[in-house]
Amino acid sequence: MKLKFSKDFIFGTATSSYQIEGAINEGGRTPSIWDTFSETPGKVLNGDTGAIACDHYHRYEEDIEIIKSLGVDSYRFSIAWPRIFPKDGEYNAEGMEFYKNLSMKLVEAGIKPFVTLYHWDMPQWAHEKGGWVSRDSVQWFKEFAEKCFEELDEYVGMWITHNEPWCAALLGYHQGVHAPGHTNMEEALKAAHHIMLSHGEAVKLYKEEMKLKKSIGITLNLSPVYGASDSQNDQLAANNLDGYVNRWFLDPILKGNYPMDMMNLYSKYVHSYDFIKEGDLELIAYPSDFLGINFYNRQLVEFHSASDFLFKSAYSDYPKSGMGWDISPKEFKELIYRLREEYTDLPIYITENGAAFDDVLEEDGTVHDKDRVSYVEQHLTAVAELNNEGHNIAGYYLWSLLDNFEWAFGYEKRFGITYVDFDTQKRYLKDSAKRYTEIVKAREI
Ligand code: NOJ
Repeated sequence: MKLKFSKDFIFGTATSSYQIEGAINEGGRTPSIWDTFSETPGKVLNGDTGAIACDHYHRYEEDIEIIKSLGVDSYRFSIAWPRIFPKDGEYNAEGMEFYKNLSMKLVEAGIKPFVTLYHWDMPQWAHEKGGWVSRDSVQWFKEFAEKCFEELDEYVGMWITHNEPWCAALLGYHQGVHAPGHTNMEEALKAAHHIMLSHGEAVKLYKEEMKLKKSIGITLNLSPVYGASDSQNDQLAANNLDGYVNRWFLDPILKGNYPMDMMNLYSKYVHSYDFIKEGDLELIAYPSDFLGINFYNRQLVEFHSASDFLFKSAYSDYPKSGMGWDISPKEFKELIYRLREEYTDLPIYITENGAAFDDVLEEDGTVHDKDRVSYVEQHLTAVAELNNEGHNIAGYYLWSLLDNFEWAFGYEKRFGITYVDFDTQKRYLKDSAKRYTEIVKAREI
């Protein structure tokens, strides 16, 4: 039996600025932390950078045609902050022009722009003044957000303040595998705090001061965590990874507090928690309109006494994507059940879901990515089922419109439903794009 999507359900596809735009020295843009990081030898696979990426900055009209052909209701993209504020306090109208044109043309095509303010490309100047570790970052971000709201709100359907703060803070400042590449837990916790604080400030600014009316929220990367066994130790490991990835962000944003077990666990890395000031948690929890979730996989862990937080990945016999991530649509549903039970009644948007696989471009220009077709079908079926059970998933954005710069993996990992030949910049629709179009048009699976 087919499952139906309601007429209000939003189908979309997603990208982010640094991963697709290129044109890093054009339109008054200055470097972001990802330019600096990717140009540092050894940081990104094969020495790849986003200097050209999908050349979307020059080809955005062609890309809008692709989006149109998919029949989707909405397109999620992000704004490169160093195009808007190339220097501290210096607004660059030319940078904004690009996003105005993009948004206007999307609207003309009947596609709702869903705009992310921060998808990890902090201006290098801001980093040099302390980056997210400095509390001043909240103010810098607020100025950036204000300009974007002023100039773009009339075209934009919905706003996301931050994409995956866990990655920006913990991958960037604790694990060192993302820009700026630091490995300092105290810095990471400060960065996470200031990112969340800047989210609260931006939502408050949008609603209270500017009195704007579109929907605004944040996107978290959430990964349901399971212990490899029922043993107390493995369950503790699962609890700790859940705290590290999920609760450290869910609790402040939706409940207005930090998880105490994690504060205790982290305390040996933190001189003091006095970067959490009075009133901060209230601001972080400032009510927004939806929760955005990027879902890719579940995590299975076991107890490991030698690791900082007592967990390590356990062997899992699940089928894997090209990233080696477990394909786990059932656990995706469990994540939503938990969020509904423990955290929120807000509408949930799946702001990203998708998978990398080793795609082959055939001579006739086709790409038979049957594993991705199946991945998308399984997760969309789960979304439809969740909605039938009344869980209010308001939309689904397939990651990604295009193969693109996959951060530390460079161009090696292809997440697109459109294949990009990076030598010629030609685009080819993969089978997954065709299948997605069918589902979107029929509004059933
Ligand atoms: C989430 C991130 O938001 C996106 O930038 C990235 O490419 C995908 N995950 C896939 O790893």
